[in-house]
Amino acid sequence: MSRTLRARRSCLAVPGSSQKFIDKARGLPADQVFLDLEDACAPLAKPDARKTIVAALNEGGWGEKVRVVRVNDWTTEWTYRDVTEVVEGAGENLDAIMLPKVQTPEQVVALDLLMTQIEKTLGYEVGKIGIEAQIENALGLTNVNAIATASPRVETIIFGPADFMASINMKSLVVGEQPPGYDVGDAYHHILMSILMAARAHDKQAIDGPFLQIRDVEAFQRVAGRSAALGFDGKWVLHPGQIDAANETFSPSQEDYDHAENILDAYEYFTSEAGGRKGSAMLGDEMIDEASRKMALVISGKGRAAGMQRGDKWTPPEA
Ligand code: GLV
Ligand code: MG
Repeated sequence: MSRTLRARRSCLAVPGSSQKFIDKARGLPADQVFLDLEDACAPLAKPDARKTIVAALNEGGWGEKVRVVRVNDWTTEWTYRDVTEVVEGAGENLDAIMLPKVQTPEQVVALDLLMTQIEKTLGYEVGKIGIEAQIENALGLTNVNAIATASPRVETIIFGPADFMASINMKSLVVGEQPPGYDVGDAYHHILMSILMAARAHDKQAIDGPFLQIRDVEAFQRVAGRSAALGFDGKWVLHPGQIDAANETFSPSQEDYDHAENILDAYEYFTSEAGGRKGSAMLGDEMIDEASRKMALVISGKGRAAGMQRGDKWTPPEA
């Protein structure tokens, strides 16, 4: 089954134990919402939170948002009940399960098998619900390619910076900022690039994790701007104030979007019979060819997914 990848510029984290935050999240302009049963949900609150989440998904009102639930990881005792209660209770109103702290491809396979059994039992379409795999430690990163391909359900590979920093003993408490004492580059570059390469190699989306200083929107923009520049598709947001910044940072600028659409139109024309069957051609002062078309497709794809409208439109020269 081929999966349609939807816009995930802003992925809003909402504690599954808080009815108040869940109700508020419905009206916010995030592309994705994920209701959390893991670290934002205290152990004693987890059983009730499962029920709150099922009810919230079935009540609806989520508009076009991608609806995701983060379950607990397989090293806990909670995972199977998280999955069975949520998928049995709200499988028809759920787009994906997020699996945190994924370390091996087998952990994704185990989740896939469990979901398949529930879907068969309840008569749901098998494979419709996706998997989002969160990479949060060294073993997970080492296995990231195998994790990306462990199940056709996998839609995104997500960086979990807080757990990752803890797991590699990084000497810092400030998620997203460079660790003090490291002054020769970006300490996260290798991790981000490994996740991005695995995602791009296998047609998955690459998602950057949270930025915890929620009142500092400028710092959020700076950190989000880095992963967006590399090619990431979106980032977690923990607070309504981060949503617009994420949507803007992970969308192309209007100018780049118009330019990309114009490259696509012009290249289609110049390679056609009417345009002279050219392999390369001039668009204004710029030479464009097949590689330009591929780059333009990326920008236009992000712009279209974000619902952008074209401004400046290229027209073919008069015959
Ligand atoms: C998110 O789960 C993180 O650990 O950063
Ligand atoms: Mg985490």
